[in-house]
Amino acid sequence: MNVIRQDKYRPSYHFSPKSGWLNDPNGLVYFEGRYHLFYQHHPFGTTWGPMHWGHAVSTDLVTWEEQPIALEPDEHGMIFSGSAVVDEQDTSGFFGGRPGLVAIFTHHDSPPGTGQVRECQSLAYSTDSGKSWIKYADNPVLEDKHCLDFRDPKVFWHKPTEQWVMVLACGQTIRIYHSPNLKEWTFASEFGHGIGSHDAVWECPDLFPLHIDGKRAQVKWVMLVSIGDAPTIREGSRTQYFTGEFDGTTFVPDADSEKVRWLDHGRDNYAGVCWSDIPVRDGRRLFIGWMSNWRYANLTPTERWRGAMSIPRELTLETREDKVALIQRPVRELEGLRTPVLSLKEPSLAEIRAAFSALRLDCYELAAEVATVGDFGFKLRVSDQQETLVGYASETQEVYVDRTRSGCSDFHKDFAGRHAVSLEAVENRLHIHIYVDRSSIEVFFNHGQVVITDLIFPDAASNGLEIFTADEQITLYSLELYELK
Ligand code: FRU
Repeated sequence: MNVIRQDKYRPSYHFSPKSGWLNDPNGLVYFEGRYHLFYQHHPFGTTWGPMHWGHAVSTDLVTWEEQPIALEPDEHGMIFSGSAVVDEQDTSGFFGGRPGLVAIFTHHDSPPGTGQVRECQSLAYSTDSGKSWIKYADNPVLEDKHCLDFRDPKVFWHKPTEQWVMVLACGQTIRIYHSPNLKEWTFASEFGHGIGSHDAVWECPDLFPLHIDGKRAQVKWVMLVSIGDAPTIREGSRTQYFTGEFDGTTFVPDADSEKVRWLDHGRDNYAGVCWSDIPVRDGRRLFIGWMSNWRYANLTPTERWRGAMSIPRELTLETREDKVALIQRPVRELEGLRTPVLSLKEPSLAEIRAAFSALRLDCYELAAEVATVGDFGFKLRVSDQQETLVGYASETQEVYVDRTRSGCSDFHKDFAGRHAVSLEAVENRLHIHIYVDRSSIEVFFNHGQVVITDLIFPDAASNGLEIFTADEQITLYSLELYELK
């Protein structure tokens, strides 16, 4: 086993940097058979600091190979979040007529002693498939001195209008810009006044189309907007989403958008965005989020490295309870990590207990279909002192993750806690799909209708697995358990 794998809390199958700090995923792009994952990175410390773009690549979204740092701070400042695109037609002129990769990111500068902040958008390009990056000589390409929080450009090619579209956070709205060549940008529209949560600064937007219920003819656009932390927010930083129409210029949210809709009901899925340029034949919209929360991100108890990504997820739009909802499912590539441990059909409580009692596991996937007649749940990463609960509370019809006793939590007063959300069972059945790693738990309820992503910091020896019910009764239709390696 190499040194990296021995690090306490080091995820087994989630991306984390070999050393140093990580936050947002950046520049997610697929090019020439490889998925690129860039990320906000401070290579010289384990807390947020001068931001670089770290870089990793994968051919299967599961095994990541860390690359040299892609972008370093320069005379315009730090390299904040942004995106990357394949410039297929060489609209930028960087590539001598061939396709190439262009990164569009925020330069952030706050010269010491000036009390001033400058955020503007800049370009870098790669002529060697993402290996090395050249900053554009005429940076920045977009600036607005009136907007102080002006960042996190997400760019895509809008085919119907044959132009580049940028969505960009500006204070507490999202601005949309157009460009023919990635270098010159013109304002198109602004979204967000009087809609959604305005509890804190808006960050890291994304905008993309999805078919409703997989039907080719029905398309809706989804806008993701992450919201920073503020003392008035109980949950810390989190991500909201809107569905609506987009004509290339204006995003019009659906009429029933008054209620804020959260992407995740745990505490640790922030600044997530989707991969660009996934081949049409693949057809998936693939998402990854930063698994932490600005409330305590700088304090989590890891050494040498700090910060990890969620598992990659496929996003779809499905009609649930007469409303179009954003659904998240683990990507199928994760199945490649499975070693089967249990597969039970309609087991009794005693059978499950007998099977669980012999198990000692730290990284695994558990899927169960259960009748929602009474309270029940699973205890994960269990020892005498520690346990993380995933459960259903029948009276309130809530699903939850309770990390109150999950392990180390004294680094911040808001870390320990129970994170619940109401979920009406369909025909009294609930599907629970759990991914456990050394310092995280991700739960997909009812096939991705509701998701809870939470960090946990259990001891390595807290590796028991248990089931609990309120009155010693449970109807389990099926249970599957895989070790993930
Ligand atoms: C979101 C964010 C972005 C910014 C980056 C800085 O987590 O605050 O808005 O670009 O992190 O690291």
